[in-house]
Amino acid sequence: MDHVVGNDRLEALKRGAKHRLSRALGRLDLAVVRRSELERLQGPRWVLDHDAVELPPGAEEYLRVDNPRLLELESRYQGHPATGHTQWTGDFLQDQLVLQYFRGDNAYVWQKRHNTGEVNFVLSALHAFEHGHPDVVASLGEDDAFGAFTFDVDGRVVTRDLIDSILELTFIDEMWSGDGQGLPRILDIGAGYGRLAHRATTWQPDAEYTCTDAVAVSTFISEYYLKYRKSPARVLALDEVDSQVTPGRFDLAVNIHSFSECPIDAIKWWLDQVAEAEIEHLFVVPNTARDLISTEGEGRHREDFRVEIERRGYKLEEMRPKYSPSAAVQAHGVFPAWYFWFTRN
Ligand SMILES: C[S@@+](CC[C@H](N)C(=O)[O-])C[C@H]1O[C@@H](n2cnc3c(N)ncnc32)[C@H](O)[C@@H]1O
Repeated sequence: MDHVVGNDRLEALKRGAKHRLSRALGRLDLAVVRRSELERLQGPRWVLDHDAVELPPGAEEYLRVDNPRLLELESRYQGHPATGHTQWTGDFLQDQLVLQYFRGDNAYVWQKRHNTGEVNFVLSALHAFEHGHPDVVASLGEDDAFGAFTFDVDGRVVTRDLIDSILELTFIDEMWSGDGQGLPRILDIGAGYGRLAHRATTWQPDAEYTCTDAVAVSTFISEYYLKYRKSPARVLALDEVDSQVTPGRFDLAVNIHSFSECPIDAIKWWLDQVAEAEIEHLFVVPNTARDLISTEGEGRHREDFRVEIERRGYKLEEMRPKYSPSAAVQAHGVFPAWYFWFTRN
């Protein structure tokens, strides 16, 4: 019978396997040597990778799926009209998020996908330093906390978080007043871990910045992260939005890489809140270049949400590439995108 192997045959098989293994190891050795030679020639590469980073005291104990605060938020969010998730489902979170390394390359901020090689990072960082508002560039630092993928550019620690935040705050300032003197009162819808909130309040500690989200774990992480950074930004739980987002409270609603990941029903719900609260401006950054489209369930077309914005009385005032004015950086920069600024009629 075929599957019964005699002693001689077994020895021959073992010798063959050993030979193949040592050949493979030889190739691997060579590959390692070649890689380190390449690194020597290219200079320093990625400074740190996400799970090589030490967590701050208490983080491991707090950032747990069974944390009572997280469980409470999850139960409060259930059944809410903004939570019919098509992308941000339980499976997606399990696959795309390591709770304790929420600043790693994950669902919040991609750092190793879409133009994220060494040269792309250097190019984007130098662009942000040159075109960013000088006070923003000067005031924002960076570190590797919670697994952010850091890179050294001429002695300065750089991440996608830093690059995006410099460019977004510069754009907001320009559209709002252009004088770098004060940010509008901001409602950040789909605020992730509180990235921009921390940046805005570092630049301008008096800024009134509120984060909100329809995903419980995002609310949970942003509460933790903003406290960790000692940011005065607020976090509003989803079930508080109705009562807290009211006329006269906010000047600008921000939605960065979020509506693109929501179904149209959730987007409509948020846009109703924005319009009813008479928020004057809306800043949207979609995932899909110049298209403002939702994410629907399997087999369903993505829906245009620009018409929904316009239907609620907003008109497009400015639309601009993230790496404006450079078309070359827009082509090769880290995660190129488009900025949309809407204003109430
Ligand atoms: C790619 S992350 C972007 C996070 C953040 N805006 C940033 O740029 O760092 C998408 C965000 O959208 C949020 N989100 C997903 N579905 C949402 C919904 N239905 N309503 C509001 N936010 C949602 C997620 O929880 C997450 O915070």
